[in-house]
Amino acid sequence: MMMIAVILFGYFLTCVCADGVADVVLSCALVEEGVGLGGMGGGAAFTRTPATLVFRDVAVAPDESLETLTPFVPPSVPDPDLILFEAKVSSVEIPNADVLLHADCNEQEVMCEISRYSPRGSEESSDPAYFMASISVDGVDFSTSLILQTVTVEKEHSTLIQNKLGLPLSQSGTLLTEVIFLVFSHIKSVSVPLRGDVLLNCGFRQHAVPLSQEVNIEWRLQHRGKGQKVIEMKTRLDAAEDDTVVHEERRGSSMDAAQVVREGNASVTLNKLKVSDVGTYICTVSLGLFHAQQVIQLHIIQPPNVSLSQEKFVLTKSPQTLSCHCSKYYPLDAQMEWLSLSPTDTEPVVFPDQGSLSSHRQHGDGTFSLSSHLTVPPSVSPGTKIICIVSHRALDAPLYMSIVVESPETDSYWWFLGFLIITVLFFYQVMR
Ligand SMILES: *[C@@H]1O[C@H](CO)[C@@H](O)[C@H](O)[C@H]1NC(C)=O
Ligand SMILES: *[C@@H]1O[C@H](CO)[C@@H](O)[C@H](O)[C@H]1NC(C)=O
Repeated sequence: MMMIAVILFGYFLTCVCADGVADVVLSCALVEEGVGLGGMGGGAAFTRTPATLVFRDVAVAPDESLETLTPFVPPSVPDPDLILFEAKVSSVEIPNADVLLHADCNEQEVMCEISRYSPRGSEESSDPAYFMASISVDGVDFSTSLILQTVTVEKEHSTLIQNKLGLPLSQSGTLLTEVIFLVFSHIKSVSVPLRGDVLLNCGFRQHAVPLSQEVNIEWRLQHRGKGQKVIEMKTRLDAAEDDTVVHEERRGSSMDAAQVVREGNASVTLNKLKVSDVGTYICTVSLGLFHAQQVIQLHIIQPPNVSLSQEKFVLTKSPQTLSCHCSKYYPLDAQMEWLSLSPTDTEPVVFPDQGSLSSHRQHGDGTFSLSSHLTVPPSVSPGTKIICIVSHRALDAPLYMSIVVESPETDSYWWFLGFLIITVLFFYQVMR
């Protein structure tokens, strides 16, 4: 079977706007998985061809300035070599589609991947044909996978067949499609402290799919090559509550059946996060014959608890060890640095000898601990501040722990002074 994948890579976006709706135009590349290419050696071979995806009639906020937007003009002469997907979205709202409108102005790269799609249990056919478009915007939490269904072109109007895809073109030379199902997410990645709760966002929209169709939502966790099911829900869009079946594989995971049915909200809540919850979450929504996915990364970040080994540091004649302990943090990477600030300086300097690090210890809950042991030479001048700086992903700014070096002479000096005063007073008394 011929496999065609289209990868659309947005170089720029333009749009035409009128009366609160706009067209979003993604400039793309069509990638076909090799047919008769790279058959040897096993690796998939791809060929790239420029392609374009136009979303018609995307709703725009009324306060939107439309002046900066340039119109999309279909080619004056239809060209069977051009791959121009035209998708009507008026039937299905693309949540947050305005992100696509602004990506161009904000110089954000739009990633878009389209592949030939076969509805479950059906042969790849050309009428209607299906495509899956996966779109995300760099640096913005916008991600969606849409299923496009080709709109039948009246035979008398279709004089041209698209060369690569073998599908009839509209009069303006576009492949007319309609968005019939989409799955989206507002987040690509989320960082949560240990024992915290999180909502992993996933939603879907559909058009012209009978409500009696079964909806199946599955959340899976993928980590280090291992996969496991988190939760699964089976229901119908016209379902009564008790028609819903939920399999909660991870304890403390939940989905709201009413939200699934009413709002197409397939988000999952995970309670009391553990280190073992870290990984890639895949939300798969199947509706009737169609299914699409979204992927969200979950990170656990737990800041270290930092302490110094001593509360008081008094110089002696021999070198002494001062330790800085970082405990119970996640993930593994933590940096520790020693600085010193002598009373005569204004800026701290890096301690010449950075001491030695203990090996990482991992606790039962998966968190780590690490210590740095600094050897403080007797030559350090009293009044010097020794600082341990800890940097870790879970800390907004590095953490400073410091201790001031005290001189033992301070004590004997006061003893000596006290003794002197008493002696003087004594002799004064004796002499008078
Ligand atoms: C789902 O509902 C939650 C509140 O329960 C909300 O925070 C979230 O944005 C919703 N997600 C979608 C995709 O609608
Ligand atoms: C940090 O360590 C101190 C001293 O060992 C302890 O009293 C405190 O409870 C710890 N804090 C956390 C958040 O673990």
